[in-house]
Amino acid sequence: MVSKLIVIPSVIGAAIGGIVLFKEFVGGKNYSGKEQLLRKTVIVTGANTGIGKETAQELAKRGARVIMACRNMTKCMEARREIVTNSFNKNVECEELDLASFHSIRMFSKKINANEKRIDVLVNNAGVMRCPRSTTKEGIELQLGVNHFGHFLLTNLLLDKLKTSAPSRIVVLSSIAHVRGEMNFDDLNSEKSYDAGSAYNQSKLANILFTRELSKQLQGSNVTVNAVHPGIVNTELMRHMGFYKSYISTLFLYPFSWMFLKTPRQGAQTTLYCCLSEDLRNVSGKYFSGMKEDELVANALDDGAAKRLWDISETWTKLR
Ligand SMILES: NC(=O)c1ccc[n+]([C@@H]2O[C@H](COP(=O)([O-])OP(=O)(O)OC[C@H]3O[C@@H](n4cnc5c(N)ncnc54)[C@H](OP(=O)(O)O)[C@@H]3O)[C@@H](O)[C@H]2O)c1
Ligand SMILES: *[C@@H]1O[C@H](CO)[C@@H](O)[C@H](O)[C@H]1NC(C)=O
Ligand SMILES: *[C@@H]1O[C@H](CO)[C@@H](O)[C@H](O)[C@H]1NC(C)=O
Ligand SMILES: *[C@@H]1O[C@H](CO)[C@@H](O)[C@H](O)[C@H]1NC(C)=O
Ligand SMILES: *[C@@H]1O[C@H](CO)[C@@H](O)[C@H](O)[C@H]1NC(C)=O
Repeated sequence: MVSKLIVIPSVIGAAIGGIVLFKEFVGGKNYSGKEQLLRKTVIVTGANTGIGKETAQELAKRGARVIMACRNMTKCMEARREIVTNSFNKNVECEELDLASFHSIRMFSKKINANEKRIDVLVNNAGVMRCPRSTTKEGIELQLGVNHFGHFLLTNLLLDKLKTSAPSRIVVLSSIAHVRGEMNFDDLNSEKSYDAGSAYNQSKLANILFTRELSKQLQGSNVTVNAVHPGIVNTELMRHMGFYKSYISTLFLYPFSWMFLKTPRQGAQTTLYCCLSEDLRNVSGKYFSGMKEDELVANALDDGAAKRLWDISETWTKLR
């Protein structure tokens, strides 16, 4: 009896310890660079939750001035409070940015360009996945609209400031989903037919084509731009997927996903590597996964498609 009382808790204890260690192991290493960001300014889009929040927090810990660019100011202020507490850095600001509205993007950029002396790092992190078909304020299919067109306009409007702050960096959150992506130039806006999965994959391919075309245009500017796959990460990104909301999934899928998906902190490491590592000082137009450069598939290396998408993006965003 007495021995059971001791053995059972210690077995449970060991099991929990094992699970925690396992999770830490499968989730991958932390970025180990020691770079500090004193007197540097970084902007992170979608910084109120998930990978963006962890990224903002780690950059704040390194002393940066952090601008959290979010669409919901209540959520943004809550996340800011946590980040300030954990990082001991009060130089963290909330600014309103709705990437589903070109007007909002223009207002945000105008304010940043007027008030900020510099931008050292821009992290295009915000994203929406597999939502039912809906559109941005300007009528663009939401996933391509937020994930690509919104960040396209934002980046271009902030580019002069990034150039005058050089060496500076742009980091674009793409995804392994780009591998299955196809640019459907005949129906970019999914007006003839909409499939939530292919629209997401297309938007993440667009992120890479944008990264590669922009890096060409930035040659010699000391502004680099690289794309990231963060891993499969346990965030709110799955919020639109049916199975995620069901009762069965809370019972079975949640423990499973808790075990095998990366935590948001683990998911932020490749972004941090691209923001910070001295090794990447002269590296641009590349794709990273697991804190290493990764190969791109033919669709992502299609320079013609990248240029075509760029030209369409200039027209749709009325950049020129
Ligand atoms: N999680 C993964 O497994 C995974 C895998 C590959 C790639 N990624 C990429 O990683 C990035 C971050 O995703 P996450 O997993 O951290 O997702 P998340 O937890 O859902 O966070 C997404 C962020 O984007 C913001 N956002 C969405 N629509 C916006 C809009 N119109 N304007 C401004 N902000 C908007 C969200 O704001 P609200 O909170 O207000 O909605 C939220 O802050 C995304 O680009 C995603 O495609 C994630
Ligand atoms: C990574 O850093 C966190 C704290 O920021 C720590 O809790 C965790 O154990 C570290 N993970 C690894 C694999 O070193
Ligand atoms: C989108 O990409 C994912 C991940 O690569 C893949 O499983 C899925 O089948 C793709 N969807 C479509 C419609 O191509
Ligand atoms: C880029 O950096 C190099 C090396 O630091 C410097 O010589 C060059 O003038 C810089 N170019 C621009 C456009 O700032
Ligand atoms: C990057 O380029 C600059 C000048 O072009 C050079 O001085 C520097 O050593 C390079 N850095 C790395 C890490 O390759």
